[in-house]
Amino acid sequence: MTVRPVQKDVTGSDVNQPFLADLTSMSDLSPAMAEGLLELATLVKARPADFRSALSGKQIVLFFEKPSFRTRLTFESGIYSLGGHAMFVDQLTSRIGEREPISDMAHNLERWVDALVLRTFAHSTVTELARFASIPVINALSDYEHPCQALADFLTLREKVGDLRKTRLAFVGDGNNVAHSLILGAALFGSHIVVGTPKRFEPHADVLAAARAIAIETGATVQVVNDPIEAVKGANAVYTDVWASMGQEKEVAERARIFASFRVTPKLFANAAPEAVFMHCLPAHRGEEVDAAVIDSPASVVFDQAENRLHIQKAILLQLLGGGARRFPSRSFNV
Ligand code: CP
Ligand code: NVA
Repeated sequence: MTVRPVQKDVTGSDVNQPFLADLTSMSDLSPAMAEGLLELATLVKARPADFRSALSGKQIVLFFEKPSFRTRLTFESGIYSLGGHAMFVDQLTSRIGEREPISDMAHNLERWVDALVLRTFAHSTVTELARFASIPVINALSDYEHPCQALADFLTLREKVGDLRKTRLAFVGDGNNVAHSLILGAALFGSHIVVGTPKRFEPHADVLAAARAIAIETGATVQVVNDPIEAVKGANAVYTDVWASMGQEKEVAERARIFASFRVTPKLFANAAPEAVFMHCLPAHRGEEVDAAVIDSPASVVFDQAENRLHIQKAILLQLLGGGARRFPSRSFNV
């Protein structure tokens, strides 16, 4: 058998592998790409100094329509630690595409900068910018998905629980953006996810269909139930998110009533496996979706998740800006 040497481009990426153009959704990834991101993040985490100038000369713009603590700071810190330059654009008062068409913005931005990081209300804002701009676009949370969070969470699960193919993850709460990305992540990594939500708050049917299609290849299982105890039973990790997401502030009282039995109390958590960990994307509301006795207990890995946002996002930037070399060799890189 002839073994062909791996052909690499100027950034060191294997030219025969399909490359990641954008990260708008977990569905942009194949199981191999998702695995590759965890491996690269592990390397970046262990040896940050080796990547100090990997994004030297790269300009990355962050447009945020919603508040952020973790995502903004981990992107800014990650970009600077890779030698790149971050520019933050506060979009809290006007939505992207309001002042001028998204396509015009995309065709401006692609001539000035190397990548875009977006936190939006409408998921279509992310996908439209990705469609029109020739530079990589990263979803830093939309109303539909939060892929950077889910990838950091699977890195954390691998570190804390072990083999992802044997991991059973319970998500209890709103079948919303974070749950969507976790479901797709579980499918990509061959994990077993049970989502417990009140009726009418189940994950979107398109996400479930996409995840189940990937699961055929990876051996993952995806289940949705309306009973929190059934969801948590035997889980290696119990995950929850806020009951009212950003933009749903008017629904806080109504949602508090609907989700009351989905609070992760010590009693609910006791249904999980003996060494189970507790996970939350943060910010958390103690006494609402989780009790302090759970999130502040030794079982909680929430700050490990937050740390891993930094490492996984550095890996995502490295992959995306590497792949860009093959798309725009003359403009993006000195070849
Ligand atoms: N988990 C997360 O995305 O946190 P921020 O909203 O603070 O960015
Ligand atoms: N579902 C939450 C996640 C925050 C990180 C929201 O969209 O507000």
